[in-house]
Amino acid sequence: MSVLPPTDEALVAASLAARDAAWAPYSGYRVGAAVRGESGRIYGGCNVEIASFSHTCCAERVAVFKAISEGERALTGAAIATQDDPPATPCGACRQVMAEFGGDMPVWLVNLDGAVVATRLSTLLPGAFTRERLLPHLRRVHGKTPE
Ligand code: THU
Repeated sequence: MSVLPPTDEALVAASLAARDAAWAPYSGYRVGAAVRGESGRIYGGCNVEIASFSHTCCAERVAVFKAISEGERALTGAAIATQDDPPATPCGACRQVMAEFGGDMPVWLVNLDGAVVATRLSTLLPGAFTRERLLPHLRRVHGKTPE
């Protein structure tokens, strides 16, 4: 495994700022996330809770979907901010979504006291199921590959 890059301070700051907008009236658990797209742009997201609980969306997925919907096709890093000490790790669903676009990108887990835990997606989600596994299947069944 390669050495982790220095902390992406702008990304960390964006995740903390994104947390300010968290809509978490039911759990009271506020999460902020930020991802950096291959263009270099940063996209923030917060958790959005819905009274019909299962429709809630985590901060990480909001950030990733914002980036992809703005035209990014690959992510180069993520930061996730909570109040926890040590900083919280992302849920399984968000690990899978980040793996779709993030390869083995660095992930910084941070909190309000300045703690930063640096890790990688492959550490958080070893053996991820990714599009590479689908490509031969798609070629066989449809004779084509996705764009
Ligand atoms: N949450 C996130 O935003 N990200 C995670 O990775 C785990 C959980 C949110 C969902 C819900 O609004 C609250 O935290 C409690 O689960």
